[in-house]
Amino acid sequence: MKRRDFINWVGLSAIVSSLPVAIAACSDQTASEEWQTVGTVAELDEDGQLLVKNWPSVNVLVVGTSESANLIAVDPTCTHSGCTVTWEAEGNKFGCRCHGAEYASDGQVQRGPATEPLKTYTAKIENDSVLVKPN
Ligand code: FES
Repeated sequence: MKRRDFINWVGLSAIVSSLPVAIAACSDQTASEEWQTVGTVAELDEDGQLLVKNWPSVNVLVVGTSESANLIAVDPTCTHSGCTVTWEAEGNKFGCRCHGAEYASDGQVQRGPATEPLKTYTAKIENDSVLVKPN
């Protein structure tokens, strides 16, 4: 085998051997943008909210019940300093007990010290499962 043929063969082998890794990386990214189950309808209906930690790397808080017209879903990590916000149904808002920030149901800041909105998700019920996907 000539030197040039050998180098071409090694280069082609490197590309072919790395192809499955590249495909897997692309597949993971696609999967994370699709609907994923975060709990059951029974769990959601029990408290009117469902907190899922590390989904898959962030937290998700789904608010509502199987009777709700729309479900609310946010990353409940306060954008001020990282405390977990809670849903305050009577005020229809999220509140942070650490320093008093408040967020509307769509995640927008209503009261500081936070200045950035909560990250939001789209949520739905399908059969007996609660599903969420990134916006
Ligand atoms: Fe939420 Fe400071 S961490 S207001």
